[in-house]
Amino acid sequence: MIDNTESQHNSRRICVINYKGGTGKTCTVVNLGHGLALAGKRVLIVDTDPQGSSGYHLGIRNPKYSLYDLLVGNATSPECIVNARQNLDIIPSNERLFPAEMALSKMKNREMILSQKLRGLQNQYDYIIVDCAPSINLLNQNSLTYAQEIFLPVSMEYLSLVGIKQLLNNIKIINKIFRHNLKVSKLIPTFFDKRNSKSKVVMDSLNRVFSQVMANPIRSSVAISEAAGYRQTIFEYNPKSSGAEDYQILTNEVIADG
Ligand SMILES: Nc1ncnc2c1ncn2[C@@H]1O[C@H](COP(=O)(O)OP(=O)(O)OP(=O)(O)O)[C@@H](O)[C@H]1O
Ligand SMILES: [Mg+2]
Repeated sequence: MIDNTESQHNSRRICVINYKGGTGKTCTVVNLGHGLALAGKRVLIVDTDPQGSSGYHLGIRNPKYSLYDLLVGNATSPECIVNARQNLDIIPSNERLFPAEMALSKMKNREMILSQKLRGLQNQYDYIIVDCAPSINLLNQNSLTYAQEIFLPVSMEYLSLVGIKQLLNNIKIINKIFRHNLKVSKLIPTFFDKRNSKSKVVMDSLNRVFSQVMANPIRSSVAISEAAGYRQTIFEYNPKSSGAEDYQILTNEVIADG
């Protein structure tokens, strides 16, 4: 039985995941995270992807500790937290996390290590947002047992639907084995282009299954990809862009949900 509850915890623990690569997970974590921080919410991003893209995007260079040190080493969570912006902290990751998988697999309760290590942060943040790698691995299993809810960014490609089925199956299994109550609370259409018929076809299919949790789409936007290169969020790089508008709407939706 998963017990991530603490006497007065108040963080929403959100896992941004899709087993398919390049669906806008990291851009969503960083831009939504900053949107929430700008709205005065206290936000922690946890990067569980050895590519370390969230930290890169936010301009974090050579942090002393990373998620590896927390999961496998002796570092404490406060030691691994880096302040990225006002109200926005991150536990960054890097390629050292690749071998962590092996070390984790030998540990007792190996699917629960992240939950154990992040215990104690619950009262310090309004939102804890986990950026996941596009793979089915033990780190992602750890993210799923830690989170209460999933945000699922889906790009407007026909093949997107295949990966979602795998994820939903895995959630079912995790919920059963760990008596967890994880659910997809937001499906976020990404790379949306209303002039492209593919976007319409994919949206129609998604709406059939996910209408209750469908978020406002994030349109394809050059500014979103450029912002990452400049190590800025979309709200810093171009607050007047369609990307900023879309991520602001998403931020408002997430705040409205609680
Ligand atoms: N709405 C968008 N419009 C245009 N480009 C985008 C958009 N969202 C993300 N991108 C760009 O697409 C690429 C993939 O986005 P991102 O890194 O957020 O995806 P990801 O799902 O985290 O990828 P991975 O699976 O490798 O972790 C990046 O170069 C990013 O800058
Ligand atoms: Mg990513």
